[in-house]
Amino acid sequence: MDQSFIGRQHILDTIRKRVTDLKEGYRQNLALLGSLHVGKSTLLARVVSDMDDHAIVPVYLDLENRDFYYFAFKLTRSLLYQYARIKGLTVTEDLPALLDAVGAALPLSTAQIREIQAYLEKGKFSDACDLVLALPETFTQETGLSCVIVLDEFQAFEDFGIPDVFSKLAARITTQKRCLYIVASSYEAQAQIILAEKLTLLFGSFEVLTLAPLELKAAQVFIERRMGQVRMGLQLKNFLADFTGGRPLYLDIILQELINLSAIYKQEEIYAPLVVQSIENLIFSRWGALSRHFELITNRLCSGKNNRLVMPILFALANGKHKVKDITEALAVKQAPVAQKLSALITEEVVEKNGGYFHIKDTLMRYWVKYVFEKRVKAIELEPGRQKKEFKEEATRAISDFQVQSRKDLSSRVSELLHCFDNEQLKIHGRFYKMPAFHDVRALKMRQRNGSMMDVIQAETEEGPWLLVLRKDPIAESDINAVADEAKKMGIRPRKCVLVSLSNLDEGARLRALEERMWIWNEMELNSFMSLFDKPYIVP
Ligand SMILES: Nc1ncnc2c1ncn2[C@@H]1O[C@H](COP(=O)(O)OP(=O)(O)OP(=O)(O)O)[C@@H](O)[C@H]1O
Ligand SMILES: [Mg+2]
Repeated sequence: MDQSFIGRQHILDTIRKRVTDLKEGYRQNLALLGSLHVGKSTLLARVVSDMDDHAIVPVYLDLENRDFYYFAFKLTRSLLYQYARIKGLTVTEDLPALLDAVGAALPLSTAQIREIQAYLEKGKFSDACDLVLALPETFTQETGLSCVIVLDEFQAFEDFGIPDVFSKLAARITTQKRCLYIVASSYEAQAQIILAEKLTLLFGSFEVLTLAPLELKAAQVFIERRMGQVRMGLQLKNFLADFTGGRPLYLDIILQELINLSAIYKQEEIYAPLVVQSIENLIFSRWGALSRHFELITNRLCSGKNNRLVMPILFALANGKHKVKDITEALAVKQAPVAQKLSALITEEVVEKNGGYFHIKDTLMRYWVKYVFEKRVKAIELEPGRQKKEFKEEATRAISDFQVQSRKDLSSRVSELLHCFDNEQLKIHGRFYKMPAFHDVRALKMRQRNGSMMDVIQAETEEGPWLLVLRKDPIAESDINAVADEAKKMGIRPRKCVLVSLSNLDEGARLRALEERMWIWNEMELNSFMSLFDKPYIVP
């Protein structure tokens, strides 16, 4: 088993369940969505490599930046290769040799593949495509096996230049009952549109699974496993989780650098200066892997005279201007072109919109834009030493700021958050929250029945007070009753009650809270709000 694969148990279980269902004759196709570098392909590779079942043929195709030839040949070769492997025939990756090896056993499939080749030679792509899409059906009927067909970055099908390719695919998927299709995409908005409008199936639809960045706990485990013998304090681990926004790719690159630095400096434990050094090497230095990565992305976005506005928009976003009005004012330009560029940046998955807030989606990219890119573009003094010194000071400050923030108590962090809301409807993890503007936010203590004190925040809005109950340890059903009673006793008729809970709620407490029409925010909701307002994670 691949030891380097970490976490993702819940989503792996769901996919494995669907594979088992397929064997039992029930098929539910899946769509795996998640932003760039969040770990989709790694997860899918894991799913495929786990399938050592002789009744299921796995096929994995990554369509990004590929063409129809790739799709046609890789699909046909994969089917034949896996068949040969399962049946113990000679395996080779070469198509003519494969056709020879399995020709006798699979006359229909191999004949269809030869037909596909003939169409391709004549440049008849649309006909070839019809046959390629029909091939899994011929193959499963002929072999009696089931298939799991993974199409990574499936939105790229659109670039193959084949008319109505998604409706053709949908028609085939519908009839191929022995094939489980798993489509994946980094472009969530685009993928949702394709799923809803173009890849509509006659019976049932794709079950959408969303892969989120790693949460704090998972990131801590990730770091421990990667660092092996090299130690690192919890504060620094949490800092890195926050700094990378929980994206495994960035964690991987930074941790590798830290391991190298710890060997060079012969340190068995990582302290802040080494983290600063790794950030400098990777993010500040022009040829550092992450700096180069972001530079390529921004070069692509900013090139061309039509994209003149993109760079200043990115600078404004990275500097805390999140509304069209604020960006327009900062740039002294009209609203229409700003709005237009913002929506192009959303399509590119670089910016996300929530309510009226626009955001650079990738936390680390936001940091690079602000502290490296903008400084590099605007600096007059080109002396590299000074920029480097300033950057190092900034990175050191970022680490100590994070530590200061994470030592603050929950009620001051949540109070800070409340001050950020400004009459918006925000969507967090699929749920809408209408957040008013708060004024007069007060942290209070509430005595519980058992005599112990509970932290609450009372926050005034135009339409009456809100009551937020804060808990780090588990909340029981009786606690909810106590909150409701106490609120009455205190003479508060809260307009809204929010239960902020940093540990799991038991089911009874959850139901009781819902009955009382309280909202429940746990670590995930809370930290999504924090990152929406550029604030460091709240560490439970
Ligand atoms: N579960 C995991 N365990 C260990 N490492 C992981 C895991 N998920 C992702 N990674 C690391 O993060 C890197 C990026 O992940 P991956 O390429 O799977 O993301 P992706 O969502 O497919 O990205 P892209 O949008 O670029 O296609 C991997 O190369 C791997 O190093
Ligand atoms: Mg990928």
